[in-house]
Amino acid sequence: MSNSSIVFHRQELAQKLVHQILTVSVGSAASSGVFLAAPRRTGKSTFVREDLRPAIESAGAIVVYADLWANPNADPASVIVGAIRAVLAANDGVLLRLAKGTGLNKVNLGGVMNFDLDRVGLGELVSLTDALVALSDETQKMIVLVIDEAQHAITTESGITALFALKAARDELNSSLHHGLRIVCTGSNRDKLAMLRNSKDQAFFGAPMVNFPTLGPAFIVWFCEQIDLPFKLEPKKVWPLFAEAGYRPELLGSAADMFRFDFELDVATAPDRYADEVHRLAEEVNEVQREVIHSLTPIQFAVLRVIAASAKTYAPFETATMDKYRRAMQLAGIPNADVKADVPGVQQALIALQDKKLVWRAARGVYAPEEQSVVDILTEDGLLQGLQ
Ligand SMILES: Nc1ncnc2c1ncn2[C@@H]1O[C@H](COP(=O)(O)OP(=O)(O)O)[C@@H](O)[C@H]1O
Ligand SMILES: [Mg+2]
Repeated sequence: MSNSSIVFHRQELAQKLVHQILTVSVGSAASSGVFLAAPRRTGKSTFVREDLRPAIESAGAIVVYADLWANPNADPASVIVGAIRAVLAANDGVLLRLAKGTGLNKVNLGGVMNFDLDRVGLGELVSLTDALVALSDETQKMIVLVIDEAQHAITTESGITALFALKAARDELNSSLHHGLRIVCTGSNRDKLAMLRNSKDQAFFGAPMVNFPTLGPAFIVWFCEQIDLPFKLEPKKVWPLFAEAGYRPELLGSAADMFRFDFELDVATAPDRYADEVHRLAEEVNEVQREVIHSLTPIQFAVLRVIAASAKTYAPFETATMDKYRRAMQLAGIPNADVKADVPGVQQALIALQDKKLVWRAARGVYAPEEQSVVDILTEDGLLQGLQ
């Protein structure tokens, strides 16, 4: 599975989405964009690159793809601007248009019009709206901007600015003068993605949230056929393993790796050992996280549980929330004399929880569990009871 050229294609799903993305009527909430949510490592990016992008292009639209996770240290705004510049760069007509429009036309040695793409960006001479309008008018095509792991955009102020710039561009391009702009955002966590659309001051207010379907039984049939092992895997047996592995293809692939160099393999017992290995790997992932959770200090543990229990309504320093931290500590069996929560303590705990990759912070002080699996573990272990 590590070989990315081997991919199970999901063309039907791509067609359905393309239809939804390209045909929404202007003015409907869907013209604000579409949000696709599915857990980490379940195949969103693979689908976007291998199936969705080609399907949008064959439907006659232009795709601008920005992956905000490809380089976690890059500023999300520069990634988005960079993706737009790259598409402009590939289109001489658009460059000419931009050069003329800005009076920045220089003729280089080859006699070709030169336009400096550094002039396109936030706070630059050519705004994202100008750039996308030029692209739309020149190509007469709809533009679909796909932002992968879009929640990263709201972890920096410039990322938030970029989203507002895109909102402006979308409103302009969706007017009858141009050919339309659709924005498709993917993300690993519904709560985080929801922050991009839940409040009126957010760039994608009201955009529909779609649960992106995880890979289904057809993928497992394909997987069992193409996996090169000295014994046969039965799709019927692998499917429940896949569900248990949180629909993450990599776990199935890693479990198979164990058998590749086993030269004295007992073919009769191998399928059962394969199942054991998938169980073990699935457990291992959770165990690592569970250990981190159970080694937290009492206040960190309390803050984490309150965040997980309150979801969108979490307000870190409100009196009622402070009471909840205390309650969480009591429920954890901390002796009353040691039950204590104050603002500096909570602030420190929030920072520690971010460092431990359990909690995620948006630029404006909004917090969410880093991953759904954190909430799942807490729920499974009964640690959210009494806090909702
Ligand atoms: N359709 C697919 N066919 C084969 N392997 C896949 C498919 N989708 C995902 N994978 C594998 O699963 C792993 C995670 O996929 P990825 O697309 O990066 O997930 P996400 O973007 O949801 O985090 C990758 O190693 C990828 O090769
Ligand atoms: Mg991805």
